[in-house]
Amino acid sequence: MSEEKKLIKVTIDNITVEVEPGTSILNAARQIGGDVAPPAMCYYSKLKGSGGKCRTCLVEVAAGSTADPRPMPKLVASCRTNVMDGMVVKNITSEKVIDARKGIVEFLLINHPLDCPICDQAGECKLQDLSYDNGAPGTRYEFPRRTFEKHDLGPYIQLHMTRCIMCFRCVFTADQLTNQRVHGILDRGEHAEIATYISKSLDHDFIGNVIDVCPVGALTDKTFRFKNRVWFLKPVDAHRDCPKCSGKVQLWFRGDEVFRVTARKDQWGEVEDWICNECRFEKKKAADWVIEGPTKVDRHSVISANHYVGMHKPTEIEPEVMGRNPRLLMDIHSVSEVNRPEIDLSRLPGPAHSDNFNGIENK
Ligand code: SF4
Ligand code: FES
Repeated sequence: MSEEKKLIKVTIDNITVEVEPGTSILNAARQIGGDVAPPAMCYYSKLKGSGGKCRTCLVEVAAGSTADPRPMPKLVASCRTNVMDGMVVKNITSEKVIDARKGIVEFLLINHPLDCPICDQAGECKLQDLSYDNGAPGTRYEFPRRTFEKHDLGPYIQLHMTRCIMCFRCVFTADQLTNQRVHGILDRGEHAEIATYISKSLDHDFIGNVIDVCPVGALTDKTFRFKNRVWFLKPVDAHRDCPKCSGKVQLWFRGDEVFRVTARKDQWGEVEDWICNECRFEKKKAADWVIEGPTKVDRHSVISANHYVGMHKPTEIEPEVMGRNPRLLMDIHSVSEVNRPEIDLSRLPGPAHSDNFNGIENK
């Protein structure tokens, strides 16, 4: 029988946990959970060698160990630093960490376009969450942002290089899930970019997973892009008998239409089981799947808005307060070019489907 491993104690934000030797500070903090777990934009527990790139997970080590209780002189990347017995770590209880994280968000946003209103990742973007938690209200940057030549990544995946934060996750995914990685990071420093060598397409059966691991909207699903906002969709868990992958997915419905298929994610936003391209891009009918039930969505997520449980529909209060029905002062259809002028989405009998955006006449 294998010998039982001796656990070691680490205290993070005044909470003590026991973990196995060799555990990183980040994973020890994840055992405590909540805000004590530092944000991680590049570390991904399912990808070997990930982490150490983005510095969002920096923490202060106030005491190195019981044997050597001196503090570490600089903040350390918690995803790349292992715990020692008796270590004392500060994350949200450290002013230095909060200040450094603010600076890191500012750096990450230097070249990141603020195009959330049209970005498919909005609502499930880790950088968006990080900016809300740690970002500054304005920018001090006065120079032009980076721009890149467009790269064609094939029929399923669209690269928006200006949104990339160089986390390397997609490169690790391609390296570890496929045997024919054709994309990587080219050039150095400010010129570094994700690209395919002589624009080869990424056409391996599992390459669609790069979309799920990308923490921002740099890699998006061509079969879904610009079709809907994630907070209008209802995710349900579903599976099918797939010969290539686990077939366990999330279907994102609006009405009875499946807008997209993604892998299921755990509480840290990491993929539970990699899925193949066929499940992700080709099976867009509800009849292709066995539906298990609504996905449990974190109640803090914008995706949980209006969904499933405890739904309380507010009654109209304007007439009571105003004594009359409100007058429509501005018709969005007449001032925006989002929809074709002959389609009034507010008059559709049910939820809007992608067909409605493609010009089915409004009756
Ligand atoms: S494209 Fe996305 S996953 Fe790849 S390095 Fe850039 S941010 Fe990371
Ligand atoms: S998550 Fe640790 S450096 Fe990026």
